Amino acid sequence: MHSVDSAAPTWDPQQYLRHSGHRTRPFLDLLARIPHLPDRRRPARIADIGCGPGNVTALIADRWPDAHITGFDLSPEMLERADKDWAGTTAGGGWLDFRPADAAHWTPDEPYDVIVSNAALQWVPNHPESFAVWIDGLRPGGTLAFQVPGNFTSPSHALLGELCETPEWRDRVGDQGRRYVHILEPADYLQRLTDLGCETDVWETTYIQLLQGEDPVLDWVKGTALRPVLTALRDDAEATEAFLAQYRDLLRAAYPPGPHGTAFPFRRIFAVARKGA
Ligand SMILES: C[S@@+](CC[C@H](N)C(=O)[O-])C[C@H]1O[C@@H](n2cnc3c(N)ncnc32)[C@H](O)[C@@H]1O
Repeated sequence: MHSVDSAAPTWDPQQYLRHSGHRTRPFLDLLARIPHLPDRRRPARIADIGCGPGNVTALIADRWPDAHITGFDLSPEMLERADKDWAGTTAGGGWLDFRPADAAHWTPDEPYDVIVSNAALQWVPNHPESFAVWIDGLRPGGTLAFQVPGNFTSPSHALLGELCETPEWRDRVGDQGRRYVHILEPADYLQRLTDLGCETDVWETTYIQLLQGEDPVLDWVKGTALRPVLTALRDDAEATEAFLAQYRDLLRAAYPPGPHGTAFPFRRIFAVARKGA
């Protein structure tokens, strides 16, 4: 059994996967920038921190087909889905498995060639404090690579935080609207990782995502930033509906649909840090 942290938001893999195309793109961009591994005589050992439903973890096997890849996550719901959909032998003869772990305390339990994390470290306070121990756990020439959203001042996220802090909602969800915001700016990641002796590549991109359907930004956020609020209100269907209606109206005004869909700009920050060989 995977253990449950009662303070953590519950995740809904099905809701999260509804936008898997747009969510996968940054990971592919990250993966493409990871340097070749120095030693190809043995299969690579790879960790994916905050692996979610495993669909992104599985993409790592396209790059390193015979690798042993382990996805770590805090959410029993996500791990169950990942296990069901992806665990086992990979097409290239590698191996994929999933284990419970809190990234806040995770330390490499064996030497890794690559440690990756996609769209997860924003939920982990003080994650930069773990960089030293993660890099220590890499083999020489190995890489730590991660991507975090950098759009917390965008209307979708700012409006959520503001709504949570209104008198109507403050007592019930006041501290939930910004619970996931734990990122540094790109230059700070660059400095931290370079200070640790890595050859470091940091960049940012804003994807102008064209979403389809009614209230697509609300649908997107239901899979991620809204999780803490939905978790806090989960025993009160009426309050959930009222909160969602208010937030939906704010989002409709901020992201009006256009003739081809709803443009939802999304800034993301990337870091690839290679340990000396
Ligand atoms: C937005 S999803 C990203 C999932 C996957 N990496 C992807 O790119 O599709 C964030 C994931 O981080 C996980 N997570 C959040 N806090 C965590 C922590 N402290 N330790 C491990 N995983 C965590 C969540 O359970 C969730 O599966």
